[in-house]
Amino acid sequence: MCRRLIIISFTWGDVDCNSLADKFGTPLYVYDESVINSRCNEIEQDFLQKWDNTFAYYASKAFSIKYMTRIIKNHGMGLDVVSEGELLTALHAGFPAEKIELHGNAKSFYDINSAVKSGVGRFIIDNIQELELLAKVSHDNNFVANVLFRVTPDVKTDTHAHISTGVKGSKFGFPIEGDMLNEAVKFALNDDYINSQGIHFHVGSQLFEPVSHLEALRKIIKLMLKLKRNLNFITRELNFGGGFGARINPKIEHVALKNFTDPLMQMLESECKANDLLRPRAAIESGRWIVSEAGITLYTVENVKRLPGILYIAVNGGMSDNPRYALYGAEYEAVNVNNPDGEIYNPEGRVSIVGKCCESGDILIDDAKISYTKPGDIIAIYNTGAYNFSMASNYNKLLRPAVIFANNGEANLKVERQTYEDLLKGELL
Ligand code: LLP
Repeated sequence: MCRRLIIISFTWGDVDCNSLADKFGTPLYVYDESVINSRCNEIEQDFLQKWDNTFAYYASKAFSIKYMTRIIKNHGMGLDVVSEGELLTALHAGFPAEKIELHGNAKSFYDINSAVKSGVGRFIIDNIQELELLAKVSHDNNFVANVLFRVTPDVKTDTHAHISTGVKGSKFGFPIEGDMLNEAVKFALNDDYINSQGIHFHVGSQLFEPVSHLEALRKIIKLMLKLKRNLNFITRELNFGGGFGARINPKIEHVALKNFTDPLMQMLESECKANDLLRPRAAIESGRWIVSEAGITLYTVENVKRLPGILYIAVNGGMSDNPRYALYGAEYEAVNVNNPDGEIYNPEGRVSIVGKCCESGDILIDDAKISYTKPGDIIAIYNTGAYNFSMASNYNKLLRPAVIFANNGEANLKVERQTYEDLLKGELL
């Protein structure tokens, strides 16, 4: 009788990760599609169905590929884009333009022109020059642009400074105090090609409590009142932005969307009633919360170097596919795919998982808790579904990894690994 050795393998989306690494190579981004679907279903149940007159966008900057926009489309949601490139990605996947909103603090003529020509549903206005340009392009195309004014609510957030956007002096949007917003609203109200729908705010990213969202909303309601009284501007739509946080590993329960949306909606309804304001259509615009926990990155360990007080595990990717430790000191957790249930390795000093880029800041996890790992092992880093693929680079001329979507045991290639031919395309001697 033949005896087979049963190895407990590490799976993602019910797909064995060793086989994935064998078949598609590493580094490799792997998404569990069911996680994305369950986040979209939670939005549907706990926000859209629970509260009347609401809408939800996916902030595609978190992870913008054609297939992802297709999933969002199938859930009937909208899409936030910040550039012509993100817009084209969505349009090429057949995403309906009227459900797209165009963001950005430095929109170019090309961004605006492309959005107007394709019939984008909302423009989130950042400044008066952009509004004037939009009015002109809309006029030239006989198009009426629906706009929301992005307002900086002047609230602090409990997150890294680089991803805190609602603070006073931010480069984004119109300050809540002062004349800048009034001037833009007056212009918009007098232009036949601009249809002023409402207000937008976004306080920051990777937040676990709704404190700053609520503080911002309180201020925005006062602003709605002021705009109504002074300029007869009715806020028919209010976008709360995104910012809902993602957890570091799948063993921790994800943040419930309703922890944010319930208190926001309760405040909106009661304050509008108390102040005799129309309760606007409310929208959210989440990126990370929808997609981050769905993704892992697989790497191959190249070498293990023991120095006094530190053990380096060097892998075949790094800040080129995940710059988030370098940029924000972001924390991650890893598992050894070849030894997922092994005891946490406890050498003297810390275990640092580093990349292959030529700088000391090329760290993926500074103080990793991982089982015994040797060269040739495959490791997986959790929670890399957002702002990894989208912020990857070709630093040190490393190739961008492929993207796999795993679902019910089936693995589907959605983005091919870059080739050296792709890498050198467009370079001239
Ligand atoms: N809406 C607006 C206007 C935004 O600026 C952002 C993110 C979002 C929505 C989506 O935020 P989320 O739900 O994903 O937190 N690269 C950084 C994150 C930058 C976020 C920029 N804006 C990172 O890797 O953490």
